Amino acid sequence: MSSKVSRRQFLSYTLMGTGGFMASAMLMPMVRFAIDPVLQPSADGELIPTSQKADALTEEPVKVDFVIKDRKDAWYVSDVADSAWVYKQGDEIIALHPTCKHLGCTVNWEGDDKNPNRFFCPCHDGLYEKNGQNVAGTPPLGPLDQYEVEVVDGFVYLGKVVENQLV
Ligand code: FES
Repeated sequence: MSSKVSRRQFLSYTLMGTGGFMASAMLMPMVRFAIDPVLQPSADGELIPTSQKADALTEEPVKVDFVIKDRKDAWYVSDVADSAWVYKQGDEIIALHPTCKHLGCTVNWEGDDKNPNRFFCPCHDGLYEKNGQNVAGTPPLGPLDQYEVEVVDGFVYLGKVVENQLV
């Protein structure tokens, strides 16, 4: 049996090689673009500054608004406004995430006259205790999440959102 490559085979190998090279040259940037968010370093653990002075906090939760600069959501980078309910418990500063665990509305402190000292969700009358514990018999099935908190130069800085550590 001859090991010679026929002219037809040579042409077909050459075309396949060239075609494969050209296809990979076109596909690589597309693949890189598609998986780009996965390749970016995570911003988790970054502290977000707020205008809330730690000394001014009391045991009464206050709403602290802040902006997360350059938040990357897949391919989009934008500034995102968010908030936290922040109060003091002894020496500790507690910051609760305001998003209801039922369907994601925003909870308010004492948002309902009939339920003082509780967080109220106006969407479906959800209730939470001050520590974020959901009140049984109302729609939310889990406690409010918490932010990690640090005080930097007298101001409250918020970190990652974590599961509620108080309940
Ligand atoms: S979204 Fe809050 S109770 Fe339904």
